[in-house]
Amino acid sequence: MTLPWRASVFSLMPDMFPGPLGLSLSGDALSRGLWALDVNDIRNHGIGKHRNVDDSPAGGGPGMVIRADVLAAALDADMAGDARPRLLMSPRGKPLKQARVRQLAQGDGAIIICARFEGVDERVIAARGLEEVSIGDYVLSGGEIAAMVLIDACVRLIPGVMGKEASGAEESHENGLLEYPHYTRPREWEGMNIPEVLLSGDHAKIARWRREEAERLTRERRPDMADKLRKNTD
Ligand code: ADE
Repeated sequence: MTLPWRASVFSLMPDMFPGPLGLSLSGDALSRGLWALDVNDIRNHGIGKHRNVDDSPAGGGPGMVIRADVLAAALDADMAGDARPRLLMSPRGKPLKQARVRQLAQGDGAIIICARFEGVDERVIAARGLEEVSIGDYVLSGGEIAAMVLIDACVRLIPGVMGKEASGAEESHENGLLEYPHYTRPREWEGMNIPEVLLSGDHAKIARWRREEAERLTRERRPDMADKLRKNTD
């Protein structure tokens, strides 16, 4: 039997997990053994009686920095020789995109490090081959929620997690476009009607309308994505 996709999280707030990952789609899949989660408390490798994990930044300045030796000890104790990608959640990282999510979901899982404070000592990033990943251009109070976002995005792509009817290919970001608008009953609501074409039964026409709407929304809301599409079709 092959092992399920596994997320191994390193955190100073391990009690935050599984959190929302224990509910709904990801939670059901977790109970069904379609993926696995282990959470490691970085503080178990802290220094001295108080299990210190951080110290003030060399060169001065505000905040605290997670010690390289502490984080390395935590990783080496449990993950030495583990070939899964080692991701460090950080607002300084490469922005997470659906293509990377797809790659990660197709692999064996990920080792995910959640920083708090000002960040982690730069030396451990290089020495342990950590890949810095950001979930967006804003700053969270810690990497835990970012890790949950990444895990959720991966888990829903694991075979068997979403039902067969769930639409993969047409979702926003799967094909470089935002998704077209959806409607359902009632046919008229607060004076607004469902676009006639969707009630026409003409599947070719419906597909064309959806494509045009997806392109319109992408141009309006995400000119960066629209530019890429244009380059790819030129
Ligand atoms: N930690 C704090 N902010 C973050 C962000 N935007 N992405 C990933 N990890 C973070």
